[in-house]
Amino acid sequence: MGGIPHDHYEPKTKGEKWLDSRLPIVGLMYTTLTAPTPKNLNWMWIWGIVLTFCLALQIVTGIVLAMHYTPHVDNAFASVEHITRNVNGGYMLRYLHANGASLFFVAVYAHIFRGLYYGSYKSPREVTWIIGMLIYLLMMATGFMGYVLPWGQMSFWGATVITGLFGAIPFIGDTLQTFLLGGPAVDNATLNRFFSLHYLLPFVIAGLVIVHIWAFHTTGNNNPTGVEVRRGSKEEAEKDTLPFWPYFVIKDLFALAVILAVFFAIVGFMPNYLGHPDNYIEANPLSTPAHIVPEWYFLPFYAILRAFTAEVWVVQIATFVTGGIVTAKFFGVLAMFGAIAVMALVPWLDTSSVRSGRFRPMFKWWFALLVIDFFALMWLGAMPAEEPYASFSLIASAYWFAYFLVILPLLGVIEKPDTPPATIEDDFAAHYGSDADKQPAE
Ligand code: HEM
Repeated sequence: MGGIPHDHYEPKTKGEKWLDSRLPIVGLMYTTLTAPTPKNLNWMWIWGIVLTFCLALQIVTGIVLAMHYTPHVDNAFASVEHITRNVNGGYMLRYLHANGASLFFVAVYAHIFRGLYYGSYKSPREVTWIIGMLIYLLMMATGFMGYVLPWGQMSFWGATVITGLFGAIPFIGDTLQTFLLGGPAVDNATLNRFFSLHYLLPFVIAGLVIVHIWAFHTTGNNNPTGVEVRRGSKEEAEKDTLPFWPYFVIKDLFALAVILAVFFAIVGFMPNYLGHPDNYIEANPLSTPAHIVPEWYFLPFYAILRAFTAEVWVVQIATFVTGGIVTAKFFGVLAMFGAIAVMALVPWLDTSSVRSGRFRPMFKWWFALLVIDFFALMWLGAMPAEEPYASFSLIASAYWFAYFLVILPLLGVIEKPDTPPATIEDDFAAHYGSDADKQPAE
């Protein structure tokens, strides 16, 4: 499949030609900025820019924070307090970074569910999707390690619980856990390596973002109809698209400004709203908090992890069949990572011939249920591990897997999709009128 036909950069002056024949960087910027973009993109296509902004914000604020932070168990907690109280603008820096992580995850979940609804993961965008999933995994690792750095009670106990999960892996678990922690328990060596990796991973993410953008520029963007841009000729392609600059840049920046107004209000007036008060108590290995709760963005998967206890019959069967190798804890770990793995495999699990959920009458309802399920899991992850929450968690986890492994593959066979518009131009005209309608009267 060739790219969407459009103008390319032609170096004009002698200087431009000199540079272009050595490093075609201006051409690359030109192609990126003028990329033909489906003109019917809706507001769900703004999250990529919000994500890019978040990544930049986290890197810039993180680098300055690191100038004042001390990665040592004796000083880490105090150094963070010092940043908030004594460093110029330190209060702002710290809370921009802490709440920036939350905005990053709000944006990534919106971006992922957008992809799931409009079938953006379907052929030919599987690579964009898989790179996205890698980014998401790295974001979770980065967020998790970052939360350990202030060395509060939740930092310490969260790290203890989560790294303990690796200990549940049969045969290699103990060795792996010791390797991750740099010792037998969460301690100074752990804090040091988490700091080092927390600093490194955002740059790996930045590299992957470039590959992500490269991938969707190769295929062209998806759009709300899921109908591809016509590629027969440049004239035809131009009827379905608009150049990225200025149209989508301005639209995206407008959306970003609205989102940042809310973000700054939170950072300025309620910076600890999403935090846990226990993290203002310095880590104490001798005192376990009553409830160990991860950050909100981990809660859905934390709920899945906890749902599979030794009382659940599937777990009992797995333990019996494997002669005790698969314990309840290990089953939980498999379920948690499995929940992300099924999402990564969605390009191959969705069998529908129609891409966008807009034209899939049955899919729409199951998808709505998936969104509700996600929020239900998020709520359940914060509840104590007791009835009725345990049973609800199990049902909600089961639906998550059923959606990807059973419902999506089956829907493609039994559902009769509506007919999408023939072209993006038609869809655009149906919403906003065609160019012909807008000609001034003679
Ligand atoms: C740092 C994180 C990420 C950044 C900066 C980023 C950036 C972008 C940008 C700028 C776009 C263009 C369209 C848009 O704005 O929606 C895009 C498209 C896309 N992203 Fe991401 N993304 C990130 C993470 C993810 C994740 C975690 C997934 C899920 C697996 C994902 C899946 C996709 C898909 C499938 C598309 C194609 C949609 C289309 O072409 O219309 N991305 N991404």
